[in-house]
Amino acid sequence: MGFWKDTEDFQTACSALLEEVLKSAQVLQDGVSGGDKNVINTLSIIDLGFGCGDQCLYIKDVLENRRQTKGDNPRKRLLKAYIGITLESAHFRIAQERLGRKPPNTNEVFEIYCADAGRPASWTLEIRNAVTLACQTNDEKENHENWLLGLDSLIHFQPSRWPVIEYANRKLGASLMAYDLCIADNLSVRQRVILRLMALFGQSPFANWITIQEYRERLVMAGYARENIEIRDISEHVFGPLAGFLRKREVELKLYGLSIGRFRYAAGMFAWWRKTGVVRGCIVVARK
Ligand SMILES: C[S@@+](CC[C@H](N)C(=O)[O-])C[C@H]1O[C@@H](n2cnc3c(N)ncnc32)[C@H](O)[C@@H]1O
Repeated sequence: MGFWKDTEDFQTACSALLEEVLKSAQVLQDGVSGGDKNVINTLSIIDLGFGCGDQCLYIKDVLENRRQTKGDNPRKRLLKAYIGITLESAHFRIAQERLGRKPPNTNEVFEIYCADAGRPASWTLEIRNAVTLACQTNDEKENHENWLLGLDSLIHFQPSRWPVIEYANRKLGASLMAYDLCIADNLSVRQRVILRLMALFGQSPFANWITIQEYRERLVMAGYARENIEIRDISEHVFGPLAGFLRKREVELKLYGLSIGRFRYAAGMFAWWRKTGVVRGCIVVARK
């Protein structure tokens, strides 16, 4: 894989990670051959914690390109609706501005909201309706899938990621695709203390820091069948390259008398995660 190895630009790296998640969930894979040619394959994405909108733009571009080349293969899976939710109003405004520069495609719903994505009970009626509508299908000629997406965001959800995942499974009939963090088994007391501090500074509840095995069990409790859950550890492709990338940027900026600021702390953290293996970066796919 090694998608971050030679990356010069952080944005490209994030797109590569998103691409890996989409590929693992096979959402861009064409529908089953031999099926009814009149059936349209569609998908709706509920994107939780999209930051400043890089991933909204990426999804819009990739899925719109697929729509434009629709003639090639009638079994292509097309985006029906994208609903993005992000927490910080400043991020929301940046994303809004960036998306605003793109002309809307009238064939699909593409909406973003500023709210706490982790707590569906706190969503306004407008958001709840938009999400419910995006996930509904009444058309027999539609082979439709709903997907919850969490790209490096679920670990931050307060009090935990589970209320929205359970809601997605039980109320929306949605599968889950995510890049998320887990911890290794058998951490020493010292490692646990350091992680607790990192969680505190990174504003993620320590209760969210669980092992891959515990993550799997929680997904089963949330309603996903054990055999439909895949958790793939991709740490070696992520933390080392990320630390290297930030350090390289630090050296470059130093030449101009500038600093990478708080990213210096992030570089040290990723390097420690790589060296000790205490934190694991994972692609999570849980299918309905
Ligand atoms: C590490 S960033 C990842 C951003 C983006 N997904 C990416 O990969 O570039 C985590 C993001 O999750 C957002 N976030 C954290 N808690 C959230 C919540 N409860 N609801 C919505 N967004 C949240 C943060 O504002 C931040 O933008």
